[in-house]
Amino acid sequence: MKNSFGTSVTLTLFGESHGPMLGAVLDGLAPGLELDEGFIARQLGLRRPAGRISTARREADEFQIVSGLFEGHTTGTPLTILIPNADARSRDYAATRALPRPGHADYTAYMKYHGFEDYRGGGHFSGRVTAALVAAGAVCIQALRTRGIWIGTHVARCAGIADRDFGADWKADFALLENEAFAVLDPAAGEAMRTAIEAAARDGDSVGGVLETAVLGLPAGVGEPWFDTLEGLLAHGLFSIPAVKGVEFGAGFGLSELRGSAANDAFFMDGDTVRTRTNHNGGINGGISNGMPLLYRCAVKPTPSIYKTQQTVDMLRGTDAELSLRGRHDPAIVHRARVVVDSVSALVLCDALALRYGTDWLARQEAEGRR
Ligand SMILES: Cc1cc2nc3c(=O)[nH]c(=O)nc-3n(C[C@H](O)[C@H](O)[C@H](O)COP(=O)(O)O)c2cc1C
Repeated sequence: MKNSFGTSVTLTLFGESHGPMLGAVLDGLAPGLELDEGFIARQLGLRRPAGRISTARREADEFQIVSGLFEGHTTGTPLTILIPNADARSRDYAATRALPRPGHADYTAYMKYHGFEDYRGGGHFSGRVTAALVAAGAVCIQALRTRGIWIGTHVARCAGIADRDFGADWKADFALLENEAFAVLDPAAGEAMRTAIEAAARDGDSVGGVLETAVLGLPAGVGEPWFDTLEGLLAHGLFSIPAVKGVEFGAGFGLSELRGSAANDAFFMDGDTVRTRTNHNGGINGGISNGMPLLYRCAVKPTPSIYKTQQTVDMLRGTDAELSLRGRHDPAIVHRARVVVDSVSALVLCDALALRYGTDWLARQEAEGRR
């Protein structure tokens, strides 16, 4: 399935950057989940570009749910969300049709779709399509919260500037991130990051960063060996996000530098709960959650569309060429991708939990039904 993901809870994405609309079909959801459409709007607001550190394209993201929702609750049948595109400016792309942007998907899409692809604004490969992902993810996040499972992501690094790590008080840290479009734990670090993004934008350039995610409240025992490990499923989902080029769990590549005595997470009894003293393995052993917080990081590359002159090729003439871009682009993607990472994480976890406990588990309605 090219544009679909999941086994029990599945998501299909459709749409292009400059087409009439984008959308998502979420299937396999529990019936009876009370949906707050205001929360979906808020999550879309966190993804929406704003200010000098984002593209000038302005979309209201006035979404419509056209199936799968009745009287405020999911029905359990496919939930379809439509999001119109209102602010596309396609003329910027016609002049450079034959000149693929280095680092973007123009050349690979041309090769795969033989020139029939909608190339305007990156078409189906545009970051714009993540709006549909975020809307669907907002549904999954609400489902997880009914079971006390919370996801929090912050911009851990941007342009070489580091945010502080998550502290011992997870709840307080998650509260700092909940409504922030530029989600950092240390406001001073966030200010320095924004200044660095603006400086790159003034140079016609872009910067990248790292997103760090924690998942709290996930029970031990979720994940399927060998091929549907929790790491494997999460990595699959996270690598679907445009511009994510690295994913690591716990201490990740750093684990390879340690001795076993330092890398192992020692177990202890915390009342009648098994916990670990450290969490270098990011809450996953053998592809299965161990009940500790999941911890993982995504590397987000600098925006490929920059305003400096770049070397490319003319695909129609078969010659080398120079590219000077027009169009509206983000000077950094990392802060906008934060809510996309939360959304993909929620989708993957809903799917993994539905596989483990059954579809109805995620709405807390299974025992009662509708009276
Ligand atoms: C939220 C978001 C916004 C993005 N905005 C832009 C943008 O304005 N300009 C651009 O060239 N790429 C942008 N991208 C990244 C491209 O879509 C991506 O780099 C491209 O599809 C190639 O995929 P790859 O980087 O995964 O190889 C954005 C990605 C995300 C997640």
